[in-house]
This record gives sequence, C-alpha cells and structure tokens, in this order.
Amino acid sequence: MLSRMHPRYYLSADTFEQEQKKIFRKVWLFAGLKTLLSQHNNFITRKIAGIPVVVQNFNGELRAFENVCLHRSAPLQSAFTGCRPLVCPYHAWKYGSDGTPDKIPHCESLYQFDADERASLKLREFPLRIVGNILLINMDANPFPLEEQFSSAFLSLLEDSSNAYDTEVMVTTWHCKFNWKLIYENLRDANHVAFIHPKSLAPAASFKPVVNHQAAAESCNAMSDTSPEAMRKEMRRFSYGGPEGKIDELKSFGWHDFVKRWRFSEVPGKTTQSVGHNQAVAEESQDDAYFNWLAFPNLHIASGDGGHSFVIEHHIPVSPERTDLEIWRFTARKTRRYQWSSQVLLSGMHHGKLIVGEDVDILEKVQSALHLEAPMPHQGAYESTNRLIERWYSTIMETEDGV
Ligand code: FES
Ligand SMILES: [Fe+2]
Repeated sequence: MLSRMHPRYYLSADTFEQEQKKIFRKVWLFAGLKTLLSQHNNFITRKIAGIPVVVQNFNGELRAFENVCLHRSAPLQSAFTGCRPLVCPYHAWKYGSDGTPDKIPHCESLYQFDADERASLKLREFPLRIVGNILLINMDANPFPLEEQFSSAFLSLLEDSSNAYDTEVMVTTWHCKFNWKLIYENLRDANHVAFIHPKSLAPAASFKPVVNHQAAAESCNAMSDTSPEAMRKEMRRFSYGGPEGKIDELKSFGWHDFVKRWRFSEVPGKTTQSVGHNQAVAEESQDDAYFNWLAFPNLHIASGDGGHSFVIEHHIPVSPERTDLEIWRFTARKTRRYQWSSQVLLSGMHHGKLIVGEDVDILEKVQSALHLEAPMPHQGAYESTNRLIERWYSTIMETEDGV
C-alpha cells in the first residue's frame, strides 16, 4: 500500500507552519505536571507551538500565560521550573493572577500611560485543563472541548494512572535531527521493536503486532466527511492507552517496596482493548505489562515495569528537521522517602537512553535520506493506525481548515 506522506511533509518550512497553525495551535497539548506546581508561586516554563508559556500557581490557582513581558518583551520566568512571583527581571513589572500588571515601578513618573492604555495591559492567557496530574493547554483562546480530542476511556485511564505519579521528577531533553512525525509513526509501529531494540527492549516485553483488516481496508479510502467536527472525531481514534506488551518475568528491585505500584486491574471501569494494533495482553497478565499511553499528536507515556515507574516523552517540533524530545522520569508515588530515590531515576534514565538512542539513530537516518523526489513509502496492512493518521493529516494539509 502506497503511503500518502509526500517527503515535503517532513522537509518543508511551509508545511511546518501549516501544521503549527492547523494542528498545534488548535489542539490540547501537554504542558507539564500538576505536582511540580503545588505551592504558591511555583511555575513551569515551556515553548508550546512555538510560543513561550509560563504556568504559575497563584494561591493555589494554576494559570497559563504567554511568557513575554508587555513592556519590552523579556521572558517573565527563565528557569524550567522554580518558585518566584511573576515579576519581569528587566524593569520589575509584577503581574497578578489575571495577567494584568499590579505593580509597575515609577508608573506615573516614567511611563505616563493614559488610563486606556494602562487598562489594556494584560498578558495573553491560555486555557488549561487538569487531568489527574497532567496539565493540558490549548493555544486557541476559544478551544474545542478536550473531550472532543480524547475519548472518555482514554481520559479516565490517563487520570487514574497519572494520579499515581510521584512528585520527584527527572527531566532531560534530546535535540533530535528528524521531523516530529517520524517519532509518532515509530511509536505506533510495534514491528520495529525486534529489529531496532533486539537486546534492550525486545527481551523485556513481548510486543505482537497484528493486522486489523477492517482498519487496513478503511485506510485505503479517502475520508468521506472532512468537516472540522468529523476531523476531530477521527482524531479521537489516534490516542489510546493500556497494556501493550506482556512482561514474562517482572524484575524486582529494592525500591519497589517504597512505592505504591499502579495496577491496571484496579482501574474502575477499565477497558481491556488492545493498544493500537497489537495483540491484546491476556487479562490475567495485564498488571505485569508494558503500558503505553499515546496521546496524539505529540505525547507518549509509558511504564515499562508494570506500573512501578513511568516515563513521559514529549515530542516538541522545532523546525521541519528538528524535534526536541523531552523525557520526564519518575516512579509511582512513594509510600515513604528513601535516600537513593534520585539514583533510581538516574539509572532509569540511563536504561532509557539505550532504547531512545536506538530509535533516534534510525529516525535520524530516515530523515537524512529524505529529499523532495524520494520514493513514497510502501506500507503493510499492519500499519493501519499510521495509515489512518496519514489519511487525516494529508486531508488537513491539502484543505483550508484545521481541526
Ligand atoms: S521588559 Fe519587562 S519590565 Fe521592562
Ligand atoms: Fe522504538
């Protein structure tokens, strides 16, 4: 089956801009973890869809603003995360929870704004939703409801599992030389695991890609309805979560005694569908599984040890051929503190480095071989999830509307 993904979708600056406008500035995107913002004045800074953002706690209320001072455009917060009032470091304008400056030093003597201009000063605010411990942001002032982007089954699984996250988090960023779409395609392709990760991931869990004949046939037809509502409904199919691979022998580590393991079997009203197009993990093995949550377009959460620890991968498009791959690592919530907890995260980071490095290596090679006359990919029936996403994506790129 011939792919619909022309090489220009991975190379062109114009396509990149279109994606930012039609997808990334319309949909709900990962903005961080609530547990990093538990105290007054805790903040986190991000660049989301190319826009610098600060999420800040104001007396318990979380608000998201453009992280750019209204005076002369200095970033209001510079660190990745911290605890500091929302004050610009340049000339000390101080902002309140509604995004208006409540203090401008020498306002009357030096600035002499008239009443209208003074009243118009307000930071651009972005809608924020909290699902369990996950913060989701939308760069559109009037966004469509989160429930149109993700199914209720997916949202409740995300909520339940993210409530199990511990507050101690380690973050690192890989600056990758590939288009962001290559990595989501890779995540929805379990057939690569045996070949790319033969010694790292493959022995740890068994992933069994299967063919979904109905989806494969459907992926060959054009979309019949391309209204924004229909496109959003279609997009809901691209995000799913649950046990993806069976772990035959779950290894036991000393630190497991200090965390409360998240168990899939205890999720109220859980769905037992397979993740994507992999063979479902048998019900009795679903706790000892490799869990994946794939939130389209650019968030991947996994637990490779049956709910003892988690990793968040956030794929941030930087340019057509550059993607920042942010990795957040944490265990399940601690039941009591133990001294070597940061070592646990560091060793998880090192193990993850091996697996991520194998993916990054092949994806950078794929990107480097692309050129505008490169042959269109030939896909197999097992790749129907990616084919359905590509059908949706190419429709968006070739028509006026976004989602
Ligand atoms: S640039 Fe922020 S106070 Fe001057
Ligand atoms: Fe991989």
